[in-house]
Amino acid sequence: MEDRFAFLTEWYDPTAALLRRYQLFYYPKDSSVEMFDVKNQRIFLRRTKYDDIHQEDLFVGNRVNVFSRQLNLIEYGDQYTANKLGSKKERTLALIKPDVVTKIGDVLELIYSSNLIVTKAKMTKLTWSQAADFYVEHQSKPFFNNLVQFVSSGPVVAMEVMGDEAVSLWRGLLGPADSAVARREAPQSARAQFGTDGIKNVGHGSDSLAAAARELEFFFPSTIGHGPSNTAIYSDCTCCIIKPHAMSEGLTGKILNSISAAGFEISALEMFSVDRANAEEFYEVYKGVVSEYTSMVTELCSGPCMVLEIHGTDTPQTFRDFCGPADPEIARHLRPTTLRALYGKDRVKNAVHCTDLPEDGVLEVQYFFKILDG
Ligand code: TYD
Ligand code: MG
Repeated sequence: MEDRFAFLTEWYDPTAALLRRYQLFYYPKDSSVEMFDVKNQRIFLRRTKYDDIHQEDLFVGNRVNVFSRQLNLIEYGDQYTANKLGSKKERTLALIKPDVVTKIGDVLELIYSSNLIVTKAKMTKLTWSQAADFYVEHQSKPFFNNLVQFVSSGPVVAMEVMGDEAVSLWRGLLGPADSAVARREAPQSARAQFGTDGIKNVGHGSDSLAAAARELEFFFPSTIGHGPSNTAIYSDCTCCIIKPHAMSEGLTGKILNSISAAGFEISALEMFSVDRANAEEFYEVYKGVVSEYTSMVTELCSGPCMVLEIHGTDTPQTFRDFCGPADPEIARHLRPTTLRALYGKDRVKNAVHCTDLPEDGVLEVQYFFKILDG
């Protein structure tokens, strides 16, 4: 019999302000999908070929985009799917320490190369007491003070990483805690490549599922509270959005590397899942002005995006130049080293949004880091 994977999914319908439930079926043989409306007990989408969905993305806790609907996969639809796709899926906390925040792109490349995906990310700066809280298990160790001091000395990036055996895979990618030992014993590891010593050692990884649950809750609380705040500074800045298509094509690490290599300072970073109403509001100024307005809205809410605050004098102008012409085809002819020339596909899927008018830089950064992150 043909392979078929089944999921229970939820989709937030902004027009009706309702959560709707669908069964989603995926047939790997011809990458086709089918949707069944649970409440009305009828077919919602007849079996249709859909190449933008990949089997690696199908597991509970993840989000997939089916014809512009962002579906949350909330349960496996049958035991077969759970066994085949779900049994080894884990979530872990990957914390990028202050020594390599400027190399976040390289670290993301390592993560993607292991078939792990990043489902949440936020740059934050911990206070001494937050860092002490986070490392409470090491309270009695001789290195505790140095460790807490270092982790609270500058920005860090906290990420929720998901995938098969994510807990041990991410620790394996990091390598031994002492960077010198890592260089001897695991030369491909992140600590070997980017670490300095036993304390400036690139990152932290949860060491068990229980630790992962606690540590993820620390940075991304699911119930009350907000977790450590983002690092946006709201002055001399511009807003860059790595668009959902670029994220799902695995280009995030490369784009972040290009931005850093060009000398731009990323002063805030966070992943968002933008709903349609917010995407419309954010792009309001383009409505009736740019013919792609509706497609731009659809793209922005088609999956998670990563929003950056880029800081520095004249950044709205210089960063815009670095992004290049809105149309990647034109960019490839005229400005082949720009972000859109390198990573864009067409005028809508053009890899990044950047602030157009210098006076809008702060406003766009505020829209994400103050209003949506509120
Ligand atoms: P540990 O949990 O042993 O390592 P890991 O980060 O691989 O889980 O230690 C936590 C951090 O404490 C480690 O990343 C760096 C710091 N540390 C020291 O500074 N000196 C030490 O001797 C040890 C063991 C850790
Ligand atoms: Mg540890």
